[in-house]
Amino acid sequence: MTDFQRIEHHYAPGGLIDGIRQGLGRLGLTSETVTPEALAPVEEFHIGGRAATQAFLDSLALGPEDRVLDIGCGIGGASRFAALTYGCRVSGVDLTREFVDAGNQINAWLGLSDKVGLSQGNVLSLPHKDAQFDKAFMMHVGMNIASKAALFREVHRVLKPGGIFGIYDIMKTGPEALTFPMPWASEPESSAVVPSAEYVRDLGAAGFEVGAELSRRDFALEFFERIAAAAAAADGPPPLGLHLLMGAQAPDKLRNMIGCVRAGLIAPVELMARKV
Ligand SMILES: C[S@@+](CC[C@H](N)C(=O)[O-])C[C@H]1O[C@@H](n2cnc3c(N)ncnc32)[C@H](O)[C@@H]1O
Repeated sequence: MTDFQRIEHHYAPGGLIDGIRQGLGRLGLTSETVTPEALAPVEEFHIGGRAATQAFLDSLALGPEDRVLDIGCGIGGASRFAALTYGCRVSGVDLTREFVDAGNQINAWLGLSDKVGLSQGNVLSLPHKDAQFDKAFMMHVGMNIASKAALFREVHRVLKPGGIFGIYDIMKTGPEALTFPMPWASEPESSAVVPSAEYVRDLGAAGFEVGAELSRRDFALEFFERIAAAAAAADGPPPLGLHLLMGAQAPDKLRNMIGCVRAGLIAPVELMARKV
């Protein structure tokens, strides 16, 4: 198995679109009556869910004229949110075929296929021509990519001059080893979590001017409190949730990630960069 096959194997849950259909059924919805709001708990695979997406994407100042790239789009929750909220056209690329297929199915359910297109591919070798996009964003993907320098060169290539690149990733904030499985990797070999200084260095080397850096640690800790309270009050997992993406090890993955954020070893961080 190559490194990339190992990553796809980690993510592909099997039976995802059926699980989503069943979850919708438990909510009294179908593929004809489904709403973007109902899907939010299952389509935002990063700390903070939809609220994190909105805060992060607001800072990219997206608009109807923008052509936007979602790097490592998962099932495309943020792509659809961007298209619906800011009116932009979004292309998403993700390694995990099952996520891409489920995402495109959901685009069709919501009548969004002309605004949002997801394709299977490796973001280290994007299937786009040079200077195609006004903006690009990446949410919780860099933790799987060892060569951030190569990734940032590729993003730089497909952005127009002056284009904006927003990153919302989990980054290393302490020296101690992480506990696995994590939501993004079953074992340390598939994990590439590094301090923000390495992102800043590699973005600069790729030709980006790096702007504001925002730690989302406090927001993450509040989010964990909220989901713990909701889980304690609930009788089992909700009809739609990230357990459908994370599989049987979901509780271990979440426990390890939350423990490492609480212990100060990792934190979600936003970075903004501009192609010069
Ligand atoms: C934690 S998920 C985040 C998904 C999405 N950005 C979100 O926030 O909902 C990480 C995603 O990165 C994708 N990924 C990891 N390495 C990749 C690569 N080299 N090329 C494309 N996608 C990759 C995985 O398939 C997975 O869907």
